[in-house]
Amino acid sequence: MKKIIITLDGYSSCGKSTLAKQMARALNYVFIDSGAMYRAITLYFIAHAIDYTNDSAVQEALKQINLAFDYNISSGSSDILLNGRNVENEIREMRVSNLVSDVAANQYVREFGVAQQQQMGLQKGIVMDGRDIGTTVFPNAELKIFVTADPAIRVARRYLELSAKNPGISKEEVQANLAMRDEIDSTREFSPLRKADDAVVLDNSHLTREEQLKTALQWVNDKINSLAVL
Ligand code: C5P
Repeated sequence: MKKIIITLDGYSSCGKSTLAKQMARALNYVFIDSGAMYRAITLYFIAHAIDYTNDSAVQEALKQINLAFDYNISSGSSDILLNGRNVENEIREMRVSNLVSDVAANQYVREFGVAQQQQMGLQKGIVMDGRDIGTTVFPNAELKIFVTADPAIRVARRYLELSAKNPGISKEEVQANLAMRDEIDSTREFSPLRKADDAVVLDNSHLTREEQLKTALQWVNDKINSLAVL
């Protein structure tokens, strides 16, 4: 069966990664979490006290960063490696979440991330989630999905996920973090978050995981069938 590139973009915590993982598993595609790449860069910047507003320091720091993904059998998806070290858990901490959108708005960080992501798509057969995947990374992707969910539902989902690992976290803190990231991501100068003109919208506010997967896989089938008759 023909392999395509599938992009999933949308605001923070609207379930993009969950859907992307489900789709990759069902299609036997590779799932790539582009947000994990920006989070790992941010972790490096925190550890080495790199000022994200200092472009020459950012450019030097990026030369020291190697990102890779390593398949994790128990979770069924890939963990990110920063210079060979598995940082999959660390990158989800609030200290990273609070800084990542500022770091990701830097022009050189974006060029670095986008170039690596484009490289990963050369083989096709990938599902990549992020903010600018359908607009900047793969403007010619065969299927682009823009995922949305009601803001209150997004906060509730993320709070549930984070409070299991961080007992001290408050709902207000989660809400403020999502609002801040969405604002920075959608107003930045370089590849801001926006729906690609040719993306289909999936609002999963009131869908179960099974329902959203069914809808998305139907779109994949329709797309592959339409390409076959061209
Ligand atoms: O997807 P996730 O919420 O983990 O992404 C963390 C942050 O990384 C986002 O809030 C955004 O600032 C940045 N990001 C980005 N472009 C992407 C993916 C993520 O700027 N393609």
